[in-house]
Amino acid sequence: MARILLGVSGGIAAYKAIELARLATKEGHAVRVLMTPTATRFVGAASFEGIVGAPVLIDEFERDPARGAFPGDPEPGHDPIGHLELAANADAYLVAPASANTIAKLATGAADSMLTTSFLSSSGPRLVAPAMNDRMYRDPATQENLAALRERGVLVIDPDEGPLASRGEHGVGRLPEPRALLDRIEAALPGPAGPWDGLRVLVSAGGTREPIDPVRFIGNRSSGRMGLALAERAARRGAEVTLVAANVCLDEPAGVRRVNVETAAELKSALGSEFPSSDVLLMAAAPADFRASAVAERKLPREGQGMELELEPTEDILAGLASGRHGGQTVIGFAAETGSGLERAREKLRRKAVDAIVLNDVSRPEIGFESDQNEVVIVEAGQERQIPLSSKADVADAILDRVEALREEAIEVHGPDR
Ligand code: CTP
Repeated sequence: MARILLGVSGGIAAYKAIELARLATKEGHAVRVLMTPTATRFVGAASFEGIVGAPVLIDEFERDPARGAFPGDPEPGHDPIGHLELAANADAYLVAPASANTIAKLATGAADSMLTTSFLSSSGPRLVAPAMNDRMYRDPATQENLAALRERGVLVIDPDEGPLASRGEHGVGRLPEPRALLDRIEAALPGPAGPWDGLRVLVSAGGTREPIDPVRFIGNRSSGRMGLALAERAARRGAEVTLVAANVCLDEPAGVRRVNVETAAELKSALGSEFPSSDVLLMAAAPADFRASAVAERKLPREGQGMELELEPTEDILAGLASGRHGGQTVIGFAAETGSGLERAREKLRRKAVDAIVLNDVSRPEIGFESDQNEVVIVEAGQERQIPLSSKADVADAILDRVEALREEAIEVHGPDR
């Protein structure tokens, strides 16, 4: 049930706002009402107060006896600023009826009553239901004001067509029925929090470069595309995504925090600081398995017949992170193999102690490093899922679906804190 702020401006349809307040209250919503001074010439504040069980506010300097609280909520211990508090506590703000005059004020940002000041300070969904004579409604001034409001994200509820208040007139300008208005408010309310809302997802992408000398490195062909697709899809689901990008030449998706690294050691250190506060790790990066034992300070000259390069192994970053994880963390590894590699992926699942290994065959050019497509097998303990050839975005979604399922299963078995 929602906290609905209802702004009533001057028009004959104000009587319908009383019916709307009654319906919303009957359905369990908490309603507070703001009226413009003109609205009080059409209907009385006492009608609303009786129905919603809370005082109506009109003047922006008026003290709110309920201190900005909605019916059923506790009142704060201090006297808050009226036109900020009610708007801040509301889940949605509907102005109905919105007269031509009030629409003009809202469109220009005028703030001369409790209704208009609260509208400016409101950050939740804002709805406006115009109701007036059809000539006033059709006038370009009103239409331009409504267009300006729409452009700013205000939801304008189109008036109905039918008999108008002035005798014998017919046209567009009638306030929709209370049921329709309430449906629009309910549709505008933010939905319940989903499993990805606020989930902290850490994605690694790209391939590391291990220097040999100041100009040369040992690298690999990972482009970072799969990691970027995972970051993008997770962000779209509502997650807070951090991307640790190893030499990725592509832009990060909108809303994703990016940390750039070059070597496996830098990747390890960046992931080491981000992982403890993450809920999910998607380890799509390809860290080098070996680095030069000694990096030459100066460019190695082209001398003699050849050269020998001594390599030393890098650490297994994923295995290290997974071994130190806490119960609520989900860890997914990736394995790029040439050929089927299923047995090797199963072995990596066990050795690295991760929840799943996403296996792909990089010897196939159509799903290789630079491709926008992929075909993978998600290998989990006791089961494998084949994800057919599709875009990396779709493959990312399939992987995220499994992450979601794995987290749900873990909660069922171990409880939310594990
Ligand atoms: N990985 C890692 N640190 C490394 C090497 C790999 O964290 N030094 C991670 C990769 O990011 C990937 C997973 O481990 O998520 C599997 O990588 P892969 O290269 O297939 O496995 P390796 O352990 O390197 O085994 P091999 O090279 O023998 O196939």
